[in-house]
Amino acid sequence: MVLAVEAKNVKYVYPDGTVGIECADIEVKEKESLAVLGPNGSGKSTLLMLIAGLLKPKKGYIKIFGVDIDRYENLRKDIGIVFQNADDYLFNPTVRDELEFTLVQLGYEDYSEKVIEVAEEFGISHLLEKPPFRLSEGEKKKVAIASMLTLNPRIVLLDEPTSFLDYDSKIEIIEFIRKIKGKKTIITVTHESGIVPYIADKVVLLSKEKKTFAEGNVRDIFYSNLLEKAGVEPPDVVKLFKKLKIGKPTTVEEAFDIFKHVI
Ligand SMILES: Nc1ncnc2c1ncn2[C@@H]1O[C@H](COP(=O)(O)OP(=O)(O)OP(=O)(O)O)[C@@H](O)[C@H]1O
Ligand SMILES: [Mg+2]
Repeated sequence: MVLAVEAKNVKYVYPDGTVGIECADIEVKEKESLAVLGPNGSGKSTLLMLIAGLLKPKKGYIKIFGVDIDRYENLRKDIGIVFQNADDYLFNPTVRDELEFTLVQLGYEDYSEKVIEVAEEFGISHLLEKPPFRLSEGEKKKVAIASMLTLNPRIVLLDEPTSFLDYDSKIEIIEFIRKIKGKKTIITVTHESGIVPYIADKVVLLSKEKKTFAEGNVRDIFYSNLLEKAGVEPPDVVKLFKKLKIGKPTTVEEAFDIFKHVI
């Protein structure tokens, strides 16, 4: 079976000599959702930029749907990326212009109606006349994800989609991701383990040494000691149930179901 994304022995060194990633191996099937977890500076953002084709590996290779990334023709169309820092890519005077820009790229001629439709779908109608740089971090993330998804890419790359967001915004972003889960190939890089069970089927861990060193389904990885080894904090519910030893929930909802039966 052809993989949607395959990275093998990938190494990248920034022009100043800093190793961005030492050795990354990942495999993602079409419509699978992968989370890459690792501590600060482990190369998560670098890896995502390599998969988006924005950086070129110094060693190893990356294939998109079985084709070497250098020879893949529809890279810009098929891969959508939301960067860690929203200010890096929201550059139009207003949110409306931002969404129109996206639709023009897609070849829409009558885009005014479509902008309203997209804004409603993503709950950002009230932000349309605002300059993106005046938005809160959560609002910026929503606009960025909305405009990326409007382009309908086959592969979605998300860099820390919920960092610095309050509780409500976090839930909204998780809902955005859940809406596309199973419909698109998704790679989310994050150091927040708590969101992973909600958005991903499997996990790859990156170490402080900037190497991928473990891969597996979310529950198995969370109930091993590999997160701690990677320098990533497990969710509180996992920490608690490792001590209780009465089940292996990865979310509060799963834990609640277990308690219902034992109390
Ligand atoms: N433009 C750059 N030039 C030089 N070094 C860089 C550059 N960007 C990142 N690095 C270095 O590459 C390594 C990996 O950085 P990267 O941003 O990919 O990590 P990360 O896992 O995304 O971290 P964080 O959790 O803080 O977002 C770090 O050592 C970082 O200092
Ligand atoms: Mg990063």
